Amino acid sequence: MISIVILGTGNVAKHLFDVFWGNKEINVLQVLGRNKHKLSYFKDKVDTSTDFSKILDADIFLIAVSDDSVAEVAQFLNGKNGLVAHTSGSVPIAALGNKSRRGVFYPLQSFSEGKPIDFKTVPICIEAENEVDLKQLQKLAQQVSLQIHEISSEQRKSIHLAAVFANNFTNHLFTIASEICADNDLPFSILTPLIKETVEKMGCLAPFDAQTGPAKRNDIRTMESHLNQLKNKNYQDIYSLLSKSIKEKYGQKL
Ligand SMILES: NC(=O)c1ccc[n+]([C@@H]2O[C@H](COP(=O)([O-])OP(=O)(O)OC[C@H]3O[C@@H](n4cnc5c(N)ncnc54)[C@H](OP(=O)(O)O)[C@@H]3O)[C@@H](O)[C@H]2O)c1
Repeated sequence: MISIVILGTGNVAKHLFDVFWGNKEINVLQVLGRNKHKLSYFKDKVDTSTDFSKILDADIFLIAVSDDSVAEVAQFLNGKNGLVAHTSGSVPIAALGNKSRRGVFYPLQSFSEGKPIDFKTVPICIEAENEVDLKQLQKLAQQVSLQIHEISSEQRKSIHLAAVFANNFTNHLFTIASEICADNDLPFSILTPLIKETVEKMGCLAPFDAQTGPAKRNDIRTMESHLNQLKNKNYQDIYSLLSKSIKEKYGQKL
């Protein structure tokens, strides 16, 4: 059985806790967070604490806090025997300092409050500095996922950058689309089949081959009309820049 302490009480901490909690091979010993109210999610099942100087001993310490706080929180684990791993896509392994065994356990998925995830489908990107530690992270990852990838800090930075385009920016574009619908008394759900098809196409077509729309066709009057419909300056800029990028990609004259 692998014993775990989780540091952090946000989205990733909760999703990891939920999937670990249901697993007989994983024993979550403690969850730490600086906010007592947020610890209440865990407190009926496991030891919780706001005091980072009272961390229990465990095989693996998972630091699931904001990227900028990983290094600060890692210092509380100096001198522990267990493996210290963070869950970030963008923070290098070196941020964990040099006073403990270091690793990364990055679940490549978008975790939001209140939306359960089938963890078996989540790629887990692991990194460690020796075979023993890598095996330990592998063992943990195998308990919850069917997709485990050994990835370096450099590769992880690139995966994270790609993921920002594939998920974060796309989601922002959905937000703009939903506002346009709402402003015109249309249900956002009318776009659901289109959104689903956009994603499903990726199973059989390269994104480059799947592109459609006025920018690819260079339908100038349609693009001008769309720009006139947009009142928000940021949205106009996003429309113009994305259209420019698409036109250049498909060799249209500007
Ligand atoms: N969300 C995702 O989709 C996702 C996916 C993969 C990886 N990750 C990575 O997982 C990590 C956690 O992300 P998240 O989405 O779970 O973030 P989140 O929901 O915003 O939660 C952040 C957590 O960090 C804690 N925290 C921040 N600064 C702290 C400090 N100085 N000391 C102690 N605790 C501190 C916060 O505590 P308070 O509540 O007290 O502020 C909160 O518990 C990040 O490294 C992120 O890059 C996120």
